[in-house]
Amino acid sequence: MSGSVITGWGTALPEKVVTNAEFEARLDTTDEWIVERTGIRERRFGGMTSSLAVEAGAAAVTKAGLEPSDIDLLILSTTTPDKAVPATSSTVHAQLGCSGAAFDLNAACAGYVYALVTADAMLGARIGFERALVIGADTLSVITDMEDRGTAVLFGDGAGAVVLEHHEDAEPLMLASDLGLDGSLLPILYCEHGGYLKMEGKEVFRKAVRVTVDSAAKVLADAELTGDRIALFVPHQANVRIIDAMLQRLGIPPERAALVLDRTGNTSSASIPLALSDAADAGRLSDGDLILFSGFGAGMTWASAVVRWGR
Ligand code: UT7
Repeated sequence: MSGSVITGWGTALPEKVVTNAEFEARLDTTDEWIVERTGIRERRFGGMTSSLAVEAGAAAVTKAGLEPSDIDLLILSTTTPDKAVPATSSTVHAQLGCSGAAFDLNAACAGYVYALVTADAMLGARIGFERALVIGADTLSVITDMEDRGTAVLFGDGAGAVVLEHHEDAEPLMLASDLGLDGSLLPILYCEHGGYLKMEGKEVFRKAVRVTVDSAAKVLADAELTGDRIALFVPHQANVRIIDAMLQRLGIPPERAALVLDRTGNTSSASIPLALSDAADAGRLSDGDLILFSGFGAGMTWASAVVRWGR
């Protein structure tokens, strides 16, 4: 028996706080509408994807009691890279001083769960990797049209990271995982090079509830679990009404959800590690607890995993 263990976690948020009142002052919207329809009260804007990723990654490595040079696999989940070439993970790798391999992964807002599953599989394959740094970082403010009330109020910038270490005597990290995509849904959420995000919000909402509930239910069934066995539910933070629908349909007690959406808005790849870190820092996790991750995003992608916390 061998597996990987989450040994560190960390986050980064830009300093600039943007409240709903700031949108209310210049767009045809209200704080009441934004809070009721999304659950978002404020978000952060600023930084670059690489700078936020470096800060979150450094915090996670320190928390794990490691040096960046101990990391031999870096996966950066992002949909807003600094440059077209090279991958932003190259910048992050150099600035942190990591060893080994690094690459970017883009599966939109489901990307962080795709990256966790990939890192765990690469550590488990015993192909030369011992310690992975898995970062989710995005600067969606750069690709959001701040004059469009339908998207401007939704997104924010940030980063979150975890360290995974392989141990010969650990139980497997993942009890079950499910990664998927329906490419025919591309037109409901996309961004052209040099353009802004275009979204059919209502359609994304409807599809998101369906695909995430199906995907999360599948991993629960594969792991032979029911929702009440999940100690912490860490969903993609896009809309509190989507999260509430998932909790209800999966039979997970509402107080088990990790939520940062009210403070961060939708930070895409960063949303799941931000929510996980927030819960871990608040002491909400104990060794052996089962965590359900579930994300969805442009593509349309989806990803769920049941993960064991600690050893
Ligand atoms: O990471 C994945 C990315 N995206 C998502 O997860 C987004 C998923 N979708 C959603 O979260 C929701 O669909 C939204 C929050 C985007 C919109 O909420 P909704 O309850 O689905 O509203 P709607 O799109 O049906 O719009 C209802 C009304 C419309 O006005 P009319 O046509 O009824 O007159 C919109 O124009 O609300 C209007 N509206 C707004 N009103 C005030 C849209 N945005 C705003 C706004 N302030 N910011």
